[in-house]
Amino acid sequence: MNEQVETIWAGLAAYHRTVADRPLRGLFEDAGDRADDFSVRCGEMLFDYSKTGLDGWSRALLLDLARAAGVEARRAAMFDGQRINVTEGRAVLHTALRNPGRAVRVDGEDVSPGIRETLSRMKGFAEDLRAGWLAGQGGPITDVVNIGIGGSDLGPAMAVAALAPYHDGPRCHFVSNVDGAHIHDTLAGLDPVRTLVIVASKTFTTAETMANARAAWVWMAAQAADPGAQFVALSSSPERAAEFGIAPARVFGFADWVGGRYSLWGPVGLSLMLAIGPEQFEAFLAGGAAMDAHFRETPLEDNMPVMLALVGIWHAQVCGYPTRAVLPYDQRLARLPAYLQQLEMESNGKRVALDGTALERDSGPIIWGEPGTNGQHAFMQLVHQGTRVVPCEFLLAARGHEPELAHQHRMLLVNCLAQAEALLRGRSLEEARAQAAAAGFEGAALETQARHRVFPGNRPSTTLIYPQLTPEMLGRIIALYEHRVFVEGVILGINSFDQWGVELGKELAQRLLPAVEGGPLPETDASTRALLRYLRAHGGSPDHQL
Ligand code: F6P
Repeated sequence: MNEQVETIWAGLAAYHRTVADRPLRGLFEDAGDRADDFSVRCGEMLFDYSKTGLDGWSRALLLDLARAAGVEARRAAMFDGQRINVTEGRAVLHTALRNPGRAVRVDGEDVSPGIRETLSRMKGFAEDLRAGWLAGQGGPITDVVNIGIGGSDLGPAMAVAALAPYHDGPRCHFVSNVDGAHIHDTLAGLDPVRTLVIVASKTFTTAETMANARAAWVWMAAQAADPGAQFVALSSSPERAAEFGIAPARVFGFADWVGGRYSLWGPVGLSLMLAIGPEQFEAFLAGGAAMDAHFRETPLEDNMPVMLALVGIWHAQVCGYPTRAVLPYDQRLARLPAYLQQLEMESNGKRVALDGTALERDSGPIIWGEPGTNGQHAFMQLVHQGTRVVPCEFLLAARGHEPELAHQHRMLLVNCLAQAEALLRGRSLEEARAQAAAAGFEGAALETQARHRVFPGNRPSTTLIYPQLTPEMLGRIIALYEHRVFVEGVILGINSFDQWGVELGKELAQRLLPAVEGGPLPETDASTRALLRYLRAHGGSPDHQL
């Protein structure tokens, strides 16, 4: 236990107790230009955290916490290729993928030439395929199916949707779920001789991906002479990809220092590169690299990932809010909340510290969200008037990509601002009474109606605002969140780069598989056995006497 860190945590808790009931609106009255003081910029991006309960004192304490927890030293260690993922003995160098010109050494060896070589192979492949020179067995490739799960799916699926205005390549589809419905419905309607299948799997062992890849192979074999000719693998295990039947020339490899949920920047981004072209993909990488430079070089108080992390720590660990909502007012970021669920919850959803001792406080929060304005007609009721506080993180682009629909974009803008304003200011009982009276209510009915119309307000939110969702901007946004997770992880003292919590379920599923394939029931709890019996009774497995 680091005593200095614990003292600061105690100071934060004590200070929070004294200010917990303070109205957020009052903070704007106290300070001069709070909106300016409590926001940070990175290029044209603006992160406004003035609508939170942070004040100068709590921010100073949080910055002390970041320093005392060693954020700066660990940041340097990460960028320098040290093996900071201690439980897996690995370096953490996804940042190298978006800055291939910078030499970076792992165990004394510069890994940048290998990154450049793979990127150039990807570009050559993408250019040939997009030009139609690299055709399928029935003509130019029209459709790409990326088969992968977790980090081998969420990143490219999110980014391909986000950058739809830049698509000028083949259509991209994503299959992740082992539920046969997913691959079935995706392949239905595709032409196997003009489809490229990308099998994206770092390990090339993930059960869901292997099952879907085999199904796609069978589907293609039924019409194409050589399914292997239209399969590509993205993996850290070229040997396993070769065993599967994918030629080495069709394998784009990456090292074990690229974590699955951080892998979009390399070969796992191939579907994105095919969709938007190598040039735009490089703009995406440049955006990530620009955020890296900002993260490495900017003092902590002006550092966007650091301040985003400190707001997160304030809400989750100091105020004790168990969730945070990510609300992109940007329809094309519809998959961002799902992407961040893996990035944040797989990284920081841990129960022990780096040294294996129990965490002193809660780990990372539960992440959820949907694009605005949809959420306003669904869960925002609870966020405004429910009994629990949910910090909201809004994302907003000043401009859309549809000039002919600019008036709709302006409606989107004001809805986002209005939500944040409503959360901050609320509506008092007095105001609600006046409103009910204006609606014609009187006496007891007026009082009851007014009470239902009260908004407590004082509900924190942040807004990340940027000019437009371009490839470069998407790169910045993703890298911002990656570094936010990193900083929160360092402050919480955990390893953000392993994911042991996903293993037990995988093992147990393997153990249960024989039982649904007609074998004997395993030794397990009575509930699981009863559910297995139900499945057998209802056609979920071949008949077997239990
Ligand atoms: O669910 C666990 C996990 O290991 C993720 O971390 C990873 O992104 C995903 O599975 C897929 O792994 P792979 O790319 O090896 O198939």
